[in-house]
Amino acid sequence: MQAAVRRISREGTLSVPRDEITDGGKIMEKKNLDWANLSFGYMTTDYRYVSVYRDGAWDEGCLTTDPNVTMNECAGILHYCQEVFEGLKAYTTEDGHIVTFRPDLNAERMMNSAARLEMPAFPRERFLDAVEQVVKANAAWVPPYGSGATLYVRPYMFATGPVIGVKPSDEYQFRILVTPVGPYFKGGAKPISICVSDFDRAAPHGTGDIKAGLNYAMSLHPYVLAHENGYDENMYLDSATRTYVEETGGANFLFVTKDGEIVIPKSGSILPSITRRSLVYVAEHYLGLKVTQRPVAFAEVGEFAECGLCGTAAVISPVGRVVDHGKEICFASGMDEMGPTIKKLYETLTGIQMGTVEAPEGWIHRIM
Ligand code: PLP
Ligand code: COI
Repeated sequence: MQAAVRRISREGTLSVPRDEITDGGKIMEKKNLDWANLSFGYMTTDYRYVSVYRDGAWDEGCLTTDPNVTMNECAGILHYCQEVFEGLKAYTTEDGHIVTFRPDLNAERMMNSAARLEMPAFPRERFLDAVEQVVKANAAWVPPYGSGATLYVRPYMFATGPVIGVKPSDEYQFRILVTPVGPYFKGGAKPISICVSDFDRAAPHGTGDIKAGLNYAMSLHPYVLAHENGYDENMYLDSATRTYVEETGGANFLFVTKDGEIVIPKSGSILPSITRRSLVYVAEHYLGLKVTQRPVAFAEVGEFAECGLCGTAAVISPVGRVVDHGKEICFASGMDEMGPTIKKLYETLTGIQMGTVEAPEGWIHRIM
């Protein structure tokens, strides 16, 4: 890699010009990592993208080698939690390309999240270009096809301008970091155990339907409790009545009936998962399955044959059992492997992402 590094930004970060990030247009040699045994963790990669919003406008943005962020002690993110983020992945396809999956939907969701927290929109085309730049620059970190790992791409935006009274900041940073990851849950495709949380994740008319750090901060205590009690995740119920299934801390639910139909919990306070929306299409158009999206009462969960968690990080992680204060619901699919319908969904979706199954138009964004 010939990346001549130069200093350009106002913050004094190190930046590389865009046309110097690949070696003559070829993908540079992969990093020497144990790809098959990566966990879902952070490691510092070579480049990240940063753009600064100041005086009512985004600057042109650049790649930087500096993984650190410096900001004022009174920055809005530090006091009033003005932050939104996204999560998507870059994949190496069977024929050796690097692609991302429906990044336009991440761009749109991030604009919706930003609007709810009174933050400026990072424009869709800029978002797509930034993802492309940062993935290209870190091509050596994109796990090889067949390794089971992927490059997790984390766009995020936060308030850097000082505020002491409660109000929106007037300066922001949009950044994207990337890190190679393995499965979100230890054991990969092995079914997990979850428990019903005593805490609520989101309120009606609150922020549960946007991707903001504040939704995750409040989930950390229930997350620690769940882990201390031997569970992998929490199932959150609706906070108004505590009778309907909402979602987990980082994924939407998907259920399969005994007749092989798909049921998706519908609620205004869950995140509109891109994976779940894609799975609905895959179920209907690739697998010919009936899909119903409706409120799902916790009382009926035991009637389903299979249960899965869907999200970018989780892909579709099978759930083997749900425990509600000592009362166990065990799905017929068991604790050893994915149930047959979730397996078909998983294989079709990952096949689309890795280029072994033909994708619907516009889903796959080729980067190189
Ligand atoms: N629900 C929550 C709370 C999440 O954090 C995520 C992860 O992004 C999802 C659902 C799944 O969304 P997506 O499929 O867009 O990654
Ligand atoms: C994702 O799936 O991208 C998320 O942001 C979930 C997070 C809990 C890792």
